Amino acid sequence: MSGTAIFEKLGILDKADSFEEIGPADLSAEKPEVVSAIYEADQPAPRPVQTLAAREALLEGYRAVRALTEKLVEPLTPEDQMLQSMDDASPAKWHRAHTTWFFETFLLQPHQPAYCVFDEHFNYLFNSYYEAVGERHPRPERGILSRPTADTVTQYRRYVDAAMEELIARIDEAALGQIAPLLALGLAHEQQHQELILTDIKHAFWRNPVSLAYQPAQGFARDMPPPLDFVSFAGGIVEIGHDGHGFAFDNEGPRHRVLLNPYRIASRPISCGEYLLFMEDGGYSQPELWLSDGWAMVQREGWHAPLYWSRDAKRDGAWQIFTLNGKRSLDPAEPVCHVSFFEAAAFAAWAGKRLPTEAEWEHAAQSGRCEFRGGFLDRAHPHPRPAGAPPGRLQMFGEVWEWTRSGYEPYPGFRPAAGAIGEYNGKFMCSQIVLRGGSCVTPPGHVRASYRNFFPPAARWQFSGIRLAEDA
Ligand SMILES: [Fe+2]
Repeated sequence: MSGTAIFEKLGILDKADSFEEIGPADLSAEKPEVVSAIYEADQPAPRPVQTLAAREALLEGYRAVRALTEKLVEPLTPEDQMLQSMDDASPAKWHRAHTTWFFETFLLQPHQPAYCVFDEHFNYLFNSYYEAVGERHPRPERGILSRPTADTVTQYRRYVDAAMEELIARIDEAALGQIAPLLALGLAHEQQHQELILTDIKHAFWRNPVSLAYQPAQGFARDMPPPLDFVSFAGGIVEIGHDGHGFAFDNEGPRHRVLLNPYRIASRPISCGEYLLFMEDGGYSQPELWLSDGWAMVQREGWHAPLYWSRDAKRDGAWQIFTLNGKRSLDPAEPVCHVSFFEAAAFAAWAGKRLPTEAEWEHAAQSGRCEFRGGFLDRAHPHPRPAGAPPGRLQMFGEVWEWTRSGYEPYPGFRPAAGAIGEYNGKFMCSQIVLRGGSCVTPPGHVRASYRNFFPPAARWQFSGIRLAEDA
């Protein structure tokens, strides 16, 4: 049976809504108050931060982000914090030190004349990829760094925090206006690493033959997702990219026009139950469904299910999945995640659909039809829950990152910033695929409609899922 036929059999809605003009949604209301204050300070031209309240808000924002990182590693032992289970992942201890190094290198050293670095070796150990900042420890060997210890990293974080608080509290107003964009970048950077702390320790715990859990499992209501709907958009010449108000990474701009043909986009991500239909229909054994590089990965890696899925020999081979709450039975209602771009594209081909382009995704996400209430980081339950989107509405934020059909390319007019900070995004604009929307381990307030995440097409250890689209 074809994927299209199975979708019809399931009664998945496939109706065309009338085309209508879609107005932009106000997503700014979703940002936490303190972070919004930081964003306000990030204007294209540096300007003085004039009020005590604004300075206090910057301090509060800094403390909140730094505290969350420490909260996330509370369940981890010092030994856990050293684990590096594959080249792409990093130890939690390294994430904690690297995010601290970012503030030390890009804020304290240039803007706090009396600042003394905590340890002169740390620039080599905790520089990730900034060529302009010097040589660095090889990424695949971060797991051999037994020293500095986790305790020393804690001391490093406290040392830098004290200096940062001093900087924010005492720097003159004009200079504070200048460093505010860098401060916002440092905090957004740390939020990205908060997500990586969880995705990386998940992979490491999964590799341990003794079943582990980051957090004990907690009961929660398991709702069935609403039927899959397809919402229509007229397209035309539309604008995408960040509009310059508030913080954004450089890769989100410049805002520019694109031409979209009429399209329809699915109201929610694909569920595990729907993905099981693809698997049971021989999805992993039909080369005609796969991109060439994807089929090569299926052959070479023996892919036959998403990452973290396995058969339970004690329960007649029923599917089970490994989560940060431990191993458990597969819930067909929850969004499928830990699939590569290749698997997402093969599923779409099987279903007779396609993946949305990033311009389609962003245009739909800016529409008044989008619900900005997805599940973001919840330390007690770091796993996607069944997406709820009422008929005609779109659930595009949170739960799972959504693979698009777009390569990660610079937008027209994009210019990386001068200096080391220009290495943040621009140099990775090759051979990667854009993902949108944030996941269940993305900190709340971190993403927006224009946010562009990116990973190589074979990557599976992020909370990456599938949203379908089609031409209207
Ligand atoms: Fe980083």
